Amino acid sequence: MATAASRRDFEFRANSLECRFRDDVLAGLGQERKAIPARWFYDTRGSEIFEEITQLPEYYPTRAEVATLEQHGGELGEAIGPDRIVVEFGAGSATKTPLLLDRIAPSAYVPIDIAGEFLRQSCAALAESYPDLPIFPIEADFTRATPIPSELLGHERLGFFPGSTIGNLEPRAAVDLLREMRATLGDGSLLLIGMDRIKAPGTLLAAYDDAAGVTARFNLNLARRINDELDGTIPLDALVHRAVWNEDRARIEMHLEATRDISFHVCARYFTLLAGETIHTENSHKYDEAGARTLLLAGGWEPTHFYSDRDNRFMVVLARAIETAITP
Ligand code: AVJ
Repeated sequence: MATAASRRDFEFRANSLECRFRDDVLAGLGQERKAIPARWFYDTRGSEIFEEITQLPEYYPTRAEVATLEQHGGELGEAIGPDRIVVEFGAGSATKTPLLLDRIAPSAYVPIDIAGEFLRQSCAALAESYPDLPIFPIEADFTRATPIPSELLGHERLGFFPGSTIGNLEPRAAVDLLREMRATLGDGSLLLIGMDRIKAPGTLLAAYDDAAGVTARFNLNLARRINDELDGTIPLDALVHRAVWNEDRARIEMHLEATRDISFHVCARYFTLLAGETIHTENSHKYDEAGARTLLLAGGWEPTHFYSDRDNRFMVVLARAIETAITP
């Protein structure tokens, strides 16, 4: 039910998203080492380009995760059980969602995504396949604690966080997010989370620097978006896509590298990049089981099952909320 109050809330949220894009970009470009959080890739165009990425021959994570969910669907359904409220964080096109919904007979579906238009489209599609499933889309940045609609209180929840999106966050921020999810989802909840495995650097680099240049377009779309939405004058022809494997931190980094000295404005502020200097636009952290376990435990979740595809490229981890300790 869209009351006047909830409409006002919604507009307020949409507004503050715009301000936070501006704040993040200006703060990020003002740093010694320029960096912009990866979440801003996903405007409508960015979300569409990301869908293209998932189809690329080099980009294995989506296929490997789908294979994992398909191959272990029966076990997953048994481990999770029916009647849970499924809260999906960063739902995007929600293409993996049916693989889960078909196995667990959920009581409601609550997708949270920052790309509102895209979210509404994918919910419309999902509603056709699941006419009896209550769907409550929320347009929000899921890295902040998000209140669940009050109509849905009283059911145990399952957080669904596929796509190895957790990999975008540095471990410290990933732990913060897991703790937020623990708070949002509550006692008795479960979390099903996708994490990409550490593997040969050549395989990783190819996945983030594809031959067709789709990932390059995805990366450059961020600069285009800054120009369009924040009065930017970034010379797009002077930026190139770079993917780097950072062995020490077990992560792929994406950068936009200046091919010559450039200067530009964003929101009437002046910035410069020297030739070879970069704007760091994304981290994609990779994990082994021990690392995944440590991260989850620190975030308040105890892993109970590790599922993987046959080639062991990806893992889907089921974890349960650790009950609040009674001793310090
Ligand atoms: C959506 C964060 C999982 O890190 O693999 C794909 C994003 N960036 N290619 C990833 C991405 C470049 C993707 N995640």
